[in-house]
Amino acid sequence: MLGYAHNCIAQHQLYIPDTLSGNTFNLTAHKDSVQLKPGKFTQTYGINNNAYLGPTLLLKKGDSINLTVNNQIGDTTTMHWHGLHVAPKNDGGPFSMIMPGMSWSPSFVVRNNAASYWYHPHMMGKTAAQAIKGDAGFIIVRDNIESALTLPRTYGIDDIPVIVQSFELDTNNQFMPKGMVDSIILVNGTDSPYVNMPAQVVRMRLLNASGERTFNFGFTANRPFRIIASDNGLLQAPVYTTRIRMAPGERYEILLDLTGLNGQMLYLMSYASELPMGVQGGPTMPMPAGSPPMNSPLNGIDFNILQINVTTPTSSPVTTIPTSLAVDTPLTESLLHTSRSINMTADSMMVMDGPFYFNHNLFDMMRIDYRIPVNNVEVWTLLDSTMVAHPFHLHDVHFYILDRNGNPPPAYERGRKDVLLIEPNETVRFIAQFTDFADTTTPYMYHCHILMHEDDGMMGQFIVTPGNPISVPTFDGGKGIDLFPNPARQTVTIKTNVNGDEAHITVTDLTGRVFFDTITVQDLISLNVADWPRGMYLINVTSGTSVTVRKLVVQ
Ligand code: C2O
Ligand code: CU
Ligand code: CU
Repeated sequence: MLGYAHNCIAQHQLYIPDTLSGNTFNLTAHKDSVQLKPGKFTQTYGINNNAYLGPTLLLKKGDSINLTVNNQIGDTTTMHWHGLHVAPKNDGGPFSMIMPGMSWSPSFVVRNNAASYWYHPHMMGKTAAQAIKGDAGFIIVRDNIESALTLPRTYGIDDIPVIVQSFELDTNNQFMPKGMVDSIILVNGTDSPYVNMPAQVVRMRLLNASGERTFNFGFTANRPFRIIASDNGLLQAPVYTTRIRMAPGERYEILLDLTGLNGQMLYLMSYASELPMGVQGGPTMPMPAGSPPMNSPLNGIDFNILQINVTTPTSSPVTTIPTSLAVDTPLTESLLHTSRSINMTADSMMVMDGPFYFNHNLFDMMRIDYRIPVNNVEVWTLLDSTMVAHPFHLHDVHFYILDRNGNPPPAYERGRKDVLLIEPNETVRFIAQFTDFADTTTPYMYHCHILMHEDDGMMGQFIVTPGNPISVPTFDGGKGIDLFPNPARQTVTIKTNVNGDEAHITVTDLTGRVFFDTITVQDLISLNVADWPRGMYLINVTSGTSVTVRKLVVQ
């Protein structure tokens, strides 16, 4: 039950990042270094006065803000405001590159509800290397609804950002962006951290900013706590629990009642022994003796992350916990315009480290995967056909999880989310509305938030188009496919009418032999059938959850 890596190392007081607030935010990312282990310093990126990570941005819903990101890291980068609902040109995706020595100045209105967000680079192929080295920071959004509640909100005193990251360092103490044998865990950049917290109700804003590891957070001796907010906002009511599982990219805010515990000590822990196989950080499959380690010794064990020393209460402590928080009405399927489905795959079932695909495709900056009319309400069905779990992240808007394998999600997953962890063989459906920002040229991303999977291409992009939502599900009962000519002799053209949605098309003969198999977003596909044996074929088009079959005759 004791910490693996940190038992004999001196404890360090938890670093609380400085804050920036107001309407103008200047961030300068630079090269730096810190001593994480005896011997060589670890090369890092830091922002402004920090040698590692950056200041916390305090934003207020409704404010117009201007940000300037100055790139002094000596490498091309971008800066993404993870979870913020902003126009694509302000989103900091792979297209918004900032050359070395240059700056980028987005401005936007803060539209998100009060919750915890973060910022990190999104450079194609380099997100892991740049974010893990420290080019990232925390964002707190406040709004009037949250401010009216009796909640702890004195930053650094009873309201603590908890940015948890795990890494592998090489023998020269340098970050390994693709390292899976992580043994260093930092909280706010602090190794072996302790924090003093007053003996009253305190709030912890948890962010898993790791490249890969999922944490199963809890406290010493299963001390219960309440979850009050998920990725994009307050829950309707606090959720009483002893565990919260968090994959990379996810945020949850929790309340911990330390009343009467002055002088005592407890730990924020990861109960990783309870994680299922396939979730990075959970138990791993035994490897043959003598093979090099593929996985961290932290996997599958329970370990300490942050020591909490309970101190005297503040002068005006929060001692009660509200019974209700915010009114939030999830979208329902009655509003549905379009369904899509994403199958997560790999080259074989045995692949543990990638590359992983969405619908058999790697990311391609030149390919727009989906065109989504602004205000469209969509249900996305995710299926994980690989042997590892993936934290799926959607840019632009928040979503609500409809179900996991057909069952409603746990209470803490019923609020606004922008990342969800999907396990091997699991099917998860979410609903989202793509409000506000149409832009015919700049796409938004969706991707796996295991940064090495993302960098390897487990990412897609969508454009939100002006115009009206598509309100006709075109894919029903065979009406959705047109064939011409049919019968065919030389070529046949298949019109799928999926409106830029993704369609999986197979053509087989009556014995099941496959003559054609593709996944496409094109509405029109032409096949040369001149060499095909004469006879009857079946054209099978799958899009979203609908399957349409039509007969084709080749003469
Ligand atoms: Cu946290 Cu696309 O990112
Ligand atoms: Cu994001
Ligand atoms: Cu993944």
